[in-house]
Amino acid sequence: MRTITTNAQFDELYTDFQSTNAQIGFVPTMGALHEGHLSLLHRAKAENDLVVVSIFVNPTQFNDPKDLEKYPRTLEADARILEAAGCDLLYAPNVEEVYGGAMEKQRVDYGALTSILEGAKRPGHYDGVVQVVRRLFEIVRPHRGYFGKKDFQQVAIIREMVRREQIPVEIVPCELIRDESGLAMSSRNVLLSAESKQNALALVNTLRAMKERFPGASPKEVEEWGQAQLRNDPAVELEYLEVLDGLNFEQPEAWSDYQSPMALVAAFVGGVRLIDNLEFIVSEEA
Ligand code: PAF
Repeated sequence: MRTITTNAQFDELYTDFQSTNAQIGFVPTMGALHEGHLSLLHRAKAENDLVVVSIFVNPTQFNDPKDLEKYPRTLEADARILEAAGCDLLYAPNVEEVYGGAMEKQRVDYGALTSILEGAKRPGHYDGVVQVVRRLFEIVRPHRGYFGKKDFQQVAIIREMVRREQIPVEIVPCELIRDESGLAMSSRNVLLSAESKQNALALVNTLRAMKERFPGASPKEVEEWGQAQLRNDPAVELEYLEVLDGLNFEQPEAWSDYQSPMALVAAFVGGVRLIDNLEFIVSEEA
């Protein structure tokens, strides 16, 4: 595996990639890698001639400076993990290299996609995500980009960006990966104490119990039942728990109007903000 930190280094290599017509699979990350990231890498390896992984903690997507400060940074360990997993190229730029002094982000408005859930709770977050992914696509020029469905809303927004801006990158959504306890894999899990890890299972357990209640109760009833479970849990500070159609982010009253019913949740557990989701019809793969 080669590790590079500048766009100039990337440009030089890109000329070689082009001369061999290599298909490039790209996995953008913010580091602190876990099994979830590796599943993206494996999928990208299977579907492309070479795989580029970026590690860049993007300051413009953090709406809370304390969250940015706390975000785990483990570049050396990450590089070892990537090398062992067969990554071809690690691109680990600094802020100047990515933005070249032009860090100003624009407001992104894709209707419900950007205004509800994370869009409502973390104002500006997806503006920064769209900005950085667009910029990384410009630098890396991949054929395919791999994104985990743990941030289900992010995948939908990036797909919409690519569609609207006609960016020639195929977006490949990849299954959410859970550890053996059921906890959704996240870089933030390293910030959880053993007790908080246990408490965090309330999120997946509630989602699973909601799925069991579907379609016996109405979408609102299932949603309110789940919200009550988590609000009554003293270890969980609920931000949102909503049932919606994963295809368009709409929230009709009857299940018959849903194409892909699912529930998405965000909550603080032990001071750490976690997100999770469960599709009610697609079977869980992890
Ligand atoms: O999902 C993430 O880790 C980040 O939002 C991404 C896509 C790497 C952009 O910084």
